[in-house]
Amino acid sequence: MRITKICCIGAGYVGGPTMSVIAQKCPDIKVTVVDLNVKRINDWNDSNTNNIPIYEPGLSEIVAETRNRNLFFSTDVEKAIDEAELIFISVNTPTKTYGSGKGMAADLKYIELCARQIAQVSKTNKIIVEKSTLPVRTAEAIKSILDSTGNGVKFQILSNPEFLAEGTAVADLLNPDRVLIGGEDSLEGRAAMQSLVDIYANWVPKEQILTTNVWSSELSKLVANAFLAQRVSSINAMSILCEKTGADVNEVSKAIGMDKRIGSKFLQSSVGFGGSCFQKDILNLVYIAKSYGLTEVAEYWEQVIIMNDYQKTRFASNIVKTLYNTVADKKITFLGWAFKKDTNDTRESAAIYIADNLLFEQAKIAVYDPKVNEKQILSDLNYLDSRSSQENEKGITVFTEPYEALKDTHAIAVLTEWDEFKCYDWAKIYDSMKKPAFIFDGRNLLDGKQLEKIGFIYYQIGVGN
Ligand code: UDX
Ligand code: UDX
Repeated sequence: MRITKICCIGAGYVGGPTMSVIAQKCPDIKVTVVDLNVKRINDWNDSNTNNIPIYEPGLSEIVAETRNRNLFFSTDVEKAIDEAELIFISVNTPTKTYGSGKGMAADLKYIELCARQIAQVSKTNKIIVEKSTLPVRTAEAIKSILDSTGNGVKFQILSNPEFLAEGTAVADLLNPDRVLIGGEDSLEGRAAMQSLVDIYANWVPKEQILTTNVWSSELSKLVANAFLAQRVSSINAMSILCEKTGADVNEVSKAIGMDKRIGSKFLQSSVGFGGSCFQKDILNLVYIAKSYGLTEVAEYWEQVIIMNDYQKTRFASNIVKTLYNTVADKKITFLGWAFKKDTNDTRESAAIYIADNLLFEQAKIAVYDPKVNEKQILSDLNYLDSRSSQENEKGITVFTEPYEALKDTHAIAVLTEWDEFKCYDWAKIYDSMKKPAFIFDGRNLLDGKQLEKIGFIYYQIGVGN
């Protein structure tokens, strides 16, 4: 079937960019993105495309080109479902915060709500595409909800996980390593898969579009994220050993990365990985393994998370220890709050946990991030529930200009690898700081030798001092 109308439920970090690129590459297809969040939809429809709710390099230009041509943002979920031949489900699937599987399993309540709404509204046959990352065999649950409507409408369920990374989402969508589509091995299943293949084939070479069974596709997404996160935890595990032995983790990383069998990507040691996916997906994998009674498998992967938590805690303790075992009332400046550069997303950012640790020690934290505002920073801290929102407000000051944030500070923690930090006038910053002036580079971003020449005491992850 040739698709002419697509609906996407969920206008978030995945749904928004993905549908914008599909609309740009398929001008004959009408793409409607719907969301329950009225403000989010209003922001996507803002007359100035620089104000769209998600910051991704290149995205606002695509939205400017396609919006109200064949890309529409709306809160009328039912109308969009009714019209569409193919529906992407791209709602969030956070880690459960209640009940069985609390803190581990994926919370599928939004997915189920979507399935019920689709079942209720649909009058014609439809292809349903799981875009959200889901535990393996979720398609089965969706199918059973859809099939029990009794109104004779037929649904085909496909899994089409997203592999885009935030900050490079547009580039990843335009030029993906592969597109993965899982479907049922039946006449109807293969036809549904072909309809989706045809959409991507408008810009992705056919050999890079991989079709598999639904379960392989669902599981591959979790496995891909687990493998990527494992590399970061592996190099971070070595960073502390480097500090103890006099090896330099950057040199080790380069030396091993040149081995073709290992490869150079995802070997940058850091204060710990963040983002909405890695932790959630690994916990999800661990939970699935446990629920099949596979304790060893679960423990193996859980260690990736434990290592990541350790890296964050040890970074914060190192700051306290170095500042003479007390940071009470000392100003400590964070450069960066987002979980990585080129995004305004802060979900699971290491900065949140470092701040939490230092607030326990009664530090006064100053934050500057080029794309994250005060409201977001406070809401991230309040979400942890470690102290009252008034106490968080007392402990944190957010700046919209870096030099003010850095003035009279005792120490700097570099927590996001924004390029602009490399270009600061570091001699001027040194002059405005309390002495001795410390920098804790959680991203190994800055030129340590240069900084030490100016007079800074510079700490880099994975390099003994
Ligand atoms: C995505 C994927 O969906 C998730 O599975 C993956 O692991 C991480 O990335 P993301 O796009 O980042 O999620 O989430 P978010 O930015 O929170 O967007 C989800 C949107 O769905 C929100 O705007 C929310 O309002 C909307 N939503 C949620 C609905 O419209 N209906 C619902 O029932 C639930
Ligand atoms: C990830 C996956 O890469 C993507 O394929 C999937 O669809 C969603 O999850 P994302 O979370 O956007 O994407 O960011 P990613 O670039 O993978 O980085 C995750 C975290 O790891 C960041 O905090 C990053 O700073 C950190 N990281 C990454 C390191 O600490 N070292 C590295 O070498 C690479």
